Amino acid sequence: GRTAAVIPAAGRGVRLGPGTPKALRALNGTPMLIHAVRAMAASRAVSLVVVVAPPDGAAEVRNLLDEHPLADHDPTEVLVVPGGGTRQESVRLGLQALTDDITTVLVHDAARPLVPVDTVDAVVAAVHDGAPAVVPALPLADTVKQVEPRTGDAAGEPEPVVGTPERALLRAVQTPQGFDRATLVAAHEKFASAAREGEGATDDAGLVERLGTEVVVVPGHEEAFKVTRPLDLVLAEAVLARRRA
Ligand code: CTP
Ligand code: MG
Repeated sequence: GRTAAVIPAAGRGVRLGPGTPKALRALNGTPMLIHAVRAMAASRAVSLVVVVAPPDGAAEVRNLLDEHPLADHDPTEVLVVPGGGTRQESVRLGLQALTDDITTVLVHDAARPLVPVDTVDAVVAAVHDGAPAVVPALPLADTVKQVEPRTGDAAGEPEPVVGTPERALLRAVQTPQGFDRATLVAAHEKFASAAREGEGATDDAGLVERLGTEVVVVPGHEEAFKVTRPLDLVLAEAVLARRRA
């Protein structure tokens, strides 16, 4: 069967600051989403891309994609569907647009516009080798603490540390995450109500883990970082400038 990439791009980008939805902001003149679509289409394995647009922005995203076509020889098909109120809901809506012939699905954040094609291909290869769920990941630079968050009247007070997981055992996970289609669809359908109840997952592999299905890690890449805060825009534009140099 064929491989598709679902690109959730429906977020506002609150942490980046006010303005245009994050995926539509420009990086060195080209919208982040366009970079992300190109990153998926660059893989010869990927023949369909489903972009999940802001709920009220599907027409605008369709226009943007038409203004930035893929290379003439690239046969990748690009669909647009409206997203939902959480990332999990947006991905679930994107999965509903897949055609019947798709058996492998990548889910890739529009907010990771610079992932190298070798990382995409490594994830696809691991799924084709039989893993039902594959995530690219890197070791952490920072030590991580678990804390007791302060809420209500105590908000803003120092947070007590509860524990320090051993850093060498932790990984920071990226996208594209790759899945056997049936496994990913089953996970999203089973846990769809969790997202609405505030108990959703922040990544797709997390839902597959809840099913009890094994998830494996392959090496991620520094350039697959997520554009989340303003400093990340500075880094992304510098990486692009270095590529063009
Ligand atoms: N996303 C989505 N639908 C949502 C929320 C997020 O499709 N309702 C997408 C974002 O567009 C992004 C990816 O999920 O490509 C990762 O989410 P994140 O980096 O958190 O982006 P935002 O939610 O837009 O940012 P923030 O959390 O700062 O508002
Ligand atoms: Mg978010």
